[in-house]
Amino acid sequence: MKEQNLENVPLIKGWDFKSRDYSDAWKHGKLLTAQIENTNTCNCDCEYCFRGGNPPDKEVRFGNEISKSQLINAINEMSNLGVRTINIIGAGEPLMDKGLEGLLAHIAGLGIIPVISTNGSMITSDLVKAFQKYQTSVILKLNSLDPKLQNKLVRRNWFSEKRDYGLKLLLEAGFNQPCNDYRTRLGVNSIVFQENKGEILDILRFCRNHNLMPVMSTFIPAGRTKDRTDQEVSMSEFIEIAKRAQRMDAEEYGIKYERLLPYLGGVPCTQCSKSSIYLTISGDILDCPGQLHSYGNIEDTSITETFRKNRTMNDNPNLSCPPRLDYWGRTNQLVPTQDGQPK
Ligand SMILES: C[S@@+](CC[C@H](N)C(=O)[O-])C[C@H]1O[C@@H](n2cnc3c(N)ncnc32)[C@H](O)[C@@H]1O
Ligand code: SF4
Ligand code: SF4
Repeated sequence: MKEQNLENVPLIKGWDFKSRDYSDAWKHGKLLTAQIENTNTCNCDCEYCFRGGNPPDKEVRFGNEISKSQLINAINEMSNLGVRTINIIGAGEPLMDKGLEGLLAHIAGLGIIPVISTNGSMITSDLVKAFQKYQTSVILKLNSLDPKLQNKLVRRNWFSEKRDYGLKLLLEAGFNQPCNDYRTRLGVNSIVFQENKGEILDILRFCRNHNLMPVMSTFIPAGRTKDRTDQEVSMSEFIEIAKRAQRMDAEEYGIKYERLLPYLGGVPCTQCSKSSIYLTISGDILDCPGQLHSYGNIEDTSITETFRKNRTMNDNPNLSCPPRLDYWGRTNQLVPTQDGQPK
């Protein structure tokens, strides 16, 4: 596996692996990271959302959802396989799940780092205390610094104010403060697309000035953005923006890196090394949210069996983004990156 220099890039606790962690996990057949879903409900209705077609704002759960005990058993299996970080990514808004604190307690109790992706609009001071207690890292939605545009994108006119309040609580609690064994515990997620492409460097600057890890890339080819959309930026547009970000990082912040994909800002995807697994709310086991084909369902197989079988297929030594590369290939968008190859 090609050595990458990640030392200089501020990553959140739970994503801050060294190159060796990826190669060791692969070599010894261990799971390094996993992604799970804990609810399909959501209080927003983002125009770009990759989750399934359930109606927003409904407290309904899908008929085919796995039970909480199945989820806990799956997490125990992941733990036995050596997982170090579990990313709670939805499928909807993870904070809608009334059992969230118990879930965090279980994950942290196994010595695993919980990382939660949230739109941030439901963060309360009690929840921030729970995040503190269970040493949780948080990735918050921030698609635009303009409240009007942000509200339009999530189709909720109250959103920005509530998300900003959540961000304020996390900053006050010091989630962006470095510690002995980590650089930060707070990140923001923004998709790069036509409506916000002009402010990507401003969002990156906001991240650098507040010690937040940026998670910024193009649409994944799934859900509402499965097929080509006029809102997407092409691969070449994204690479151009990522190169400008790279220059800005080097010149203004002394942060140097080579990697431009899948995220700008030098951030690697921890989910695509084949030492990772994604368990959906309906029990399907995939590599990651960009993959459309399921390896199996926990009703019929186990995490352990699927992970072992999956390893017989190709690994992903460049830590690239196979779903995006596949999509860009299918839509004739592939362009070489800095060193001549898409990574
Ligand atoms: C499904 S969301 C769940 C968490 C939470 N509801 C949120 O939006 O932050 C998980 C992450 O995927 C991102 N996301 C949603 N749809 C996407 C898409 N089509 N392409 C890339 N990322 C997407 C969201 O911005 C979010 O950071
Ligand atoms: S991206 Fe997140 S907040 Fe937006 S609709 Fe999807 S699950 Fe909800
Ligand atoms: S491989 Fe690509 S689509 Fe999959 S989790 Fe990583 S960045 Fe997202």
